[in-house]
Amino acid sequence: MCGIVGYVGREDCIALLLKGLERLEYRGYDSAGVAVIEDGGISLRKAKGRLANLQEEIGVNPLKGFTGIGHTRWATHGEPSFINAHPHVDIHGRLAIVHNGIIENYFSLRKSLEQKGIRFASQTDTEVIAQLLGFYYDGDMLTTLYRVLPMLEGSFALGVLDAACPDKLYCTRKGNPLIVGQGETGSFIASDIPAILEYTRDIYFMDDYDIAVLSRDTIRFYDEMGNELRKESTHIDWDMEAAEKDGYAHFMLKEIHQQPKVIQDTLNHYVNMETMEIRRETMPFSPEQAKALTKVTLLGCGTAYHAGLVGKSLLENLAKIRTTADVASEYRYREPLIDKDEAFIVISQSGETADTIAAMRLAKANGNRVVALCNVIGSTIAREADTVMYTLAGPEIAVASTKAYVAQLLLFELIALDTAHQRGYLSDEQMKEALQALARLPEKADAVIQAKEKIQYFASQSSNCKSVFFIGRLLDYYLAMEAALKLKEVSYIHSESYAAGELKHGTIALIEEGTLVVAMATQHKVLGKLISNIEEVRVRGAKVIAVAANPPQMLSESVAILEIPEAPDAMAPLLAIIPMQLFAYYMALQKGCDIDKPRNLAKSVTVE
Ligand code: F6R
Repeated sequence: MCGIVGYVGREDCIALLLKGLERLEYRGYDSAGVAVIEDGGISLRKAKGRLANLQEEIGVNPLKGFTGIGHTRWATHGEPSFINAHPHVDIHGRLAIVHNGIIENYFSLRKSLEQKGIRFASQTDTEVIAQLLGFYYDGDMLTTLYRVLPMLEGSFALGVLDAACPDKLYCTRKGNPLIVGQGETGSFIASDIPAILEYTRDIYFMDDYDIAVLSRDTIRFYDEMGNELRKESTHIDWDMEAAEKDGYAHFMLKEIHQQPKVIQDTLNHYVNMETMEIRRETMPFSPEQAKALTKVTLLGCGTAYHAGLVGKSLLENLAKIRTTADVASEYRYREPLIDKDEAFIVISQSGETADTIAAMRLAKANGNRVVALCNVIGSTIAREADTVMYTLAGPEIAVASTKAYVAQLLLFELIALDTAHQRGYLSDEQMKEALQALARLPEKADAVIQAKEKIQYFASQSSNCKSVFFIGRLLDYYLAMEAALKLKEVSYIHSESYAAGELKHGTIALIEEGTLVVAMATQHKVLGKLISNIEEVRVRGAKVIAVAANPPQMLSESVAILEIPEAPDAMAPLLAIIPMQLFAYYMALQKGCDIDKPRNLAKSVTVE
């Protein structure tokens, strides 16, 4: 979603701001802008569309300043346009702000300001904040913020410039991420680490209602009562290279290729690979807690929810615990009945997804324990959950999640195995065998990636298709859901997923000569049934591709096969999703889509 970057210091900040915004491009946006304090006033430049347009505008109309803010906007209130792009200023042009989030009561605030004679320039909710700050400005931005913030309902991360204080930068947040850091030449704010990592590795995570006042060499934090706060910084140990493409054409392709390493790194962290034992201290449930578990609820959105569906099956089948997986955006509003001893696992790559945060808070408010599977250190979910298990995927830049999903699946494998072991459903011997099978996955995942030419060939054969049906049974059905999501989000090709046994209850009516059906065929227990379902669509004209390990002859003779290495059924999803990620990638590539930043999508969905 929107991105914020800000700087106050000794350097002319335009290049710093533009570079920071470039690093945030992956979040998705449709306009961009910067503001600096120049000659005692605010200078603004904005442009609709890509950052290149803003750079061009600045090339034609240069500006210079040592204190500035920048923004990439993903439209919510008001269409993507020059006028609606941030930063926004008050009517006197005394201050400028950038804002991530949504002000829910903006309409009534706007009406009351209009009655006081304030004329608005844009259709955005953000401008209401700028005008409120301007209207109530008392000569001190800090006290003005204290006056205005309680009027705002909704969520915000804000960066504020006050032309009267050219060597200060203000920021605050409620419900939207914001970080602050001290570099060598000045102080920075940003909505996300990559924007400022080049300048500092020691990051302060702002909490809701904290206000920070930054100047060249100092950063002061205040709580909502105006008390000065002491905050500890967190050292970030991944570097900018992790956020570069490393010679790959796209981040998505790079991140798909990183998966064998992600699996290995995650295993090394959670498993003692010499003794082949889980590091118990890294597991979310103690032996007593594991034995006492009666119900687990898994919550997430999109791809994270799909990982949760696999997790649900694993916890039920291996650890024999009643488990449900739910979409966080539905769960939070459907007045769920929560058992007292129900455990929750929330899944989120970014740790900032608004719906997942709200669902987590609901469970916590009910007094239940929440475990988070999260990829971003210091994110809201990581900080608020009772226990965090990090997916060690490194920064995921492409909007379409690939390596974080695989890492989430791996964590569910480990949790389910460990819990099953603690509950007595797996012997020590079986546990070791399972971990040994997991240890072979990095090599096998690499083998899948090495066979990418064949996947590219299939994609080239399917380039004209208008829609694709992904089918599967059991875990393969959940994989089909993820495969369909990946294809539609990056290639814009209509795709659907179905439990293979459901086709004949309606969907099969859509199958006609040449329809592309991709069958996920990794679950041995139901392979015979799936082959019958494949036949049902094949005889009706469908072109079928099956993803399978050691496919039986009758399958390989009738349909095209994408072969993956053999793995136990429970672990096959970690391998079988890779060809589907590559298939989506190559389909999008030949359609010339903006693969890393698909239209209308944002990396971190911080609004509901
Ligand atoms: C799809 C995708 C999204 C996210 C979803 C949740 O490729 O990335 O569906 O999975 O928006 O995001 P996180 O995991 O950050 O909570």
